[in-house]
Amino acid sequence: MKTALHITSSARGAQSYSRRLSAAIIQKLTDRKEIGIVVERDLAQSPPPFLDENLIGEFYKYPDQVSDEGKQLLSYANAIFDEIDQADIIVISTPTHNLGVSAQLKAWLDQLVRVGLTYQFTEDGSRAGCFQNKKVYLAIASGGKQAFWPEGYEFIESYIKAVFSAYTGMTDVSTFRVEGTAMGKPEINYEEILQNL
Ligand SMILES: Cc1cc2nc3c(=O)[nH]c(=O)nc-3n(C[C@H](O)[C@H](O)[C@H](O)COP(=O)(O)O)c2cc1C
Repeated sequence: MKTALHITSSARGAQSYSRRLSAAIIQKLTDRKEIGIVVERDLAQSPPPFLDENLIGEFYKYPDQVSDEGKQLLSYANAIFDEIDQADIIVISTPTHNLGVSAQLKAWLDQLVRVGLTYQFTEDGSRAGCFQNKKVYLAIASGGKQAFWPEGYEFIESYIKAVFSAYTGMTDVSTFRVEGTAMGKPEINYEEILQNL
């Protein structure tokens, strides 16, 4: 039975549309028996620490150079690395905040990506990501609608795909959107949004 990691990042708790969308993805995969175990990582309830000088220093050390204090500083980064490592399917939800991902999700990405760990440089100078054969589902909520923005104003799906592909090896990303959440009181049909899942 496959394991899913469910990462949520909206600060709006039960009011959150992105949380409801990613929960609907988890539910559908569970109903289809594609996943049997779901590990929850709520980035709003337990926000990732921001990077600071000391932690960045630890990121660039070889494992045998890391002191006990360094291990403490790396404990969050190591925990979220292990969660991805142990998952087959990763479901991530985010609100749109100023055209980008939530600050919590950005902080999580900054803790996840590590040279020498999530990716290595190969002999020809290209990068090789360490997480192979993972499936990623992205659930994005926005107050407006993508179609109303000029072309080129999509920064969330493209950003996540670029970071994952360049620095983690995760290339199989499917995106679902709940849009127009700030336009009146929309009735959202999650089943319809997920019809192609
Ligand atoms: C600080 C902030 C910035 C926002 N920026 C945008 C934006 O750039 N584009 C947009 O369409 N909606 C924007 N919104 C609206 C949210 O994307 C919308 O409320 C969405 O439903 C949030 O996801 P959630 O329901 O999962 O919390 C913003 C909301 C907040 C609070």
